[in-house]
Amino acid sequence: MPKYILIIGACGQIGTELTLTLREKYGSEYVIASDIREGNEDLMQSGPFEILDATNYDALEEVIAYYEISEVYLMAAMLSATAEKFPMRAWNLNMNTLFNVLNLAKEKKIDKIFWPSSIAVFGPNTPKDDTPQNTIMEPSTVYGISKQSGERWCEYYFKKFDVDVRSIRYPGLISWKTMPGGGTTDYAVEIYHKALSEGSYTCFLEEDTKLPMMFMDDAIRATLQIMEAPSENIKERSAYNLAAMSFTPKEMAKNIKAVIPEFEMGYEPDFRQEIANSWPSSIDDSSAQKDWNWKAEFDLEKTTETMLENLKNRV
Ligand SMILES: NC(=O)c1ccc[n+]([C@@H]2O[C@H](COP(=O)([O-])OP(=O)(O)OC[C@H]3O[C@@H](n4cnc5c(N)ncnc54)[C@H](O)[C@@H]3O)[C@@H](O)[C@H]2O)c1
Repeated sequence: MPKYILIIGACGQIGTELTLTLREKYGSEYVIASDIREGNEDLMQSGPFEILDATNYDALEEVIAYYEISEVYLMAAMLSATAEKFPMRAWNLNMNTLFNVLNLAKEKKIDKIFWPSSIAVFGPNTPKDDTPQNTIMEPSTVYGISKQSGERWCEYYFKKFDVDVRSIRYPGLISWKTMPGGGTTDYAVEIYHKALSEGSYTCFLEEDTKLPMMFMDDAIRATLQIMEAPSENIKERSAYNLAAMSFTPKEMAKNIKAVIPEFEMGYEPDFRQEIANSWPSSIDDSSAQKDWNWKAEFDLEKTTETMLENLKNRV
């Protein structure tokens, strides 16, 4: 029996690439994309699409029944930088969409859920280097508070109601197909666009702010891998730490300069610096490695090479 998959927030930075990859793997007609807005041409032309506000339980239930959906990837959320500006909207969106999907699984209307968490679940009191899977978590941002609460609820629904929900704490994600949606690591995507179009970039973080990052192909591969793993292998029902590389804006600029020697980097830190200061510098993802064989493939050099190669034709 083929399974039908619903992606919520399919037009975003991750949702777009996730939808295209799932369609390639399972067949376009089995992967339903949904969002409150239309996405880019690649996405819109690749298969079925529904305008859907996932905060509306009845509308969500209707789409799930109509397409006989068994798996949901919930990618809709308000990200870290935007959430600081609209705290209540962020809380309502991030939590209500999660509760809607968890409750549909509790009611046995869907079988499996992917819901992404973030390194934002950690806070200023968390060990910064090689942050362990289980450690102090005192998030100091609206976004981080919503993600940490989400993790607790996922584990609760798994234990109480046997809901098969799986999650990853994504680091900052770097991609060329879509732009990022209002996070604190957005600089690591913008920098490549500006390097090609203007030869310079002014970074909104200080030069020595080291953060965990990942190239999108790795993030998508991890997402498919955790969803395909046998249920008994998923030992963490809150969310898994996931790592690939960690670097500072200064290191990234140096890396780009090696390819584009005339590239110049300036620094004008803004409110996002405080968010970044509260996050880890590097992540220990040994649990993901052990439980479902996770291994990253992209380092900074390979990321820069791939980003510049693909963006060259677009900018
Ligand atoms: N991009 C990153 O670096 C990163 C890092 C860690 C975690 N995450 C998490 O991954 C998920 C996806 O992130 P992203 O970067 O693709 O975000 P994004 O902002 O690029 O995309 C989110 C999408 O959700 C849609 N959306 C908003 N409200 C909606 C609603 N009510 N109903 C349906 N859709 C709605 C938006 O239109 C948008 O297309 C989020 O949960 C985010 O917190 C992302």
